[in-house]
Amino acid sequence: MKYIIAPSILTVQKEDIVTRIKEIENSGARWIHFDIMDGNFVPATTFDIDEIRELLSQTKVTKDVHLMIKNPRSMVKAYIDAGADNVTFHYEACKDNIEVSAVIDMIHQYGAKAGLSIKPGTDINAIIPFLSKLDLVLIMSVEPGKGGQKFIGKSLKKINLLYKYKIENRLSSLIIEVDGGINDKTLGKCVNNGAGVLVVGSYLFNHPDYIDRFKKINA
Ligand code: DX5
Ligand code: ZN
Repeated sequence: MKYIIAPSILTVQKEDIVTRIKEIENSGARWIHFDIMDGNFVPATTFDIDEIRELLSQTKVTKDVHLMIKNPRSMVKAYIDAGADNVTFHYEACKDNIEVSAVIDMIHQYGAKAGLSIKPGTDINAIIPFLSKLDLVLIMSVEPGKGGQKFIGKSLKKINLLYKYKIENRLSSLIIEVDGGINDKTLGKCVNNGAGVLVVGSYLFNHPDYIDRFKKINA
């Protein structure tokens, strides 16, 4: 398989999340994506640190934590202590490049993989200075904040530019992850343009046949 599906439990009812995590893990998921929203960087809120610690403890697969929060520096250690394997924060949540760099270093210092995410309106060139020290880049293909939105087509160009940069600069271990509006049709377009990890939320969990859907796109 040349790509990884990272199911996002964002749209799952809270009382069902643990069951869905177990079922998707048993169906062959290698990553699970957890969205953290603070009511500030984005309007919605999701899990507090105690809730996320409990959820992360439920699975052995790679726990991919996407922080949609202001001031990520203040929370990085807490999420890593809570069990995150990958911690991805937003370029737009930092006041300058020095802060972006400091947060990446902090994530590494506490032993997790470091990811940097950009919103649909942010130019890919903004994050080029950080690529050599990042483990992953998360390209948002919808506005962050909620599940179930339509894939923004111009994200494909961004994925492709990043992929070209990665190849030209021999950044072979850099993971290109895409988040938002991924379904059976948009998935292939992202992979063809260089994406290696696809976050999939509502296409799976808003449907009762989500295990079949997962197995089909994971094949
Ligand atoms: C949106 C989140 C996504 C969300 C994707 O802000 O970052 O991870 O769960 O949901 P879908 O797949 O429905 O776009
Ligand atoms: Zn996400």
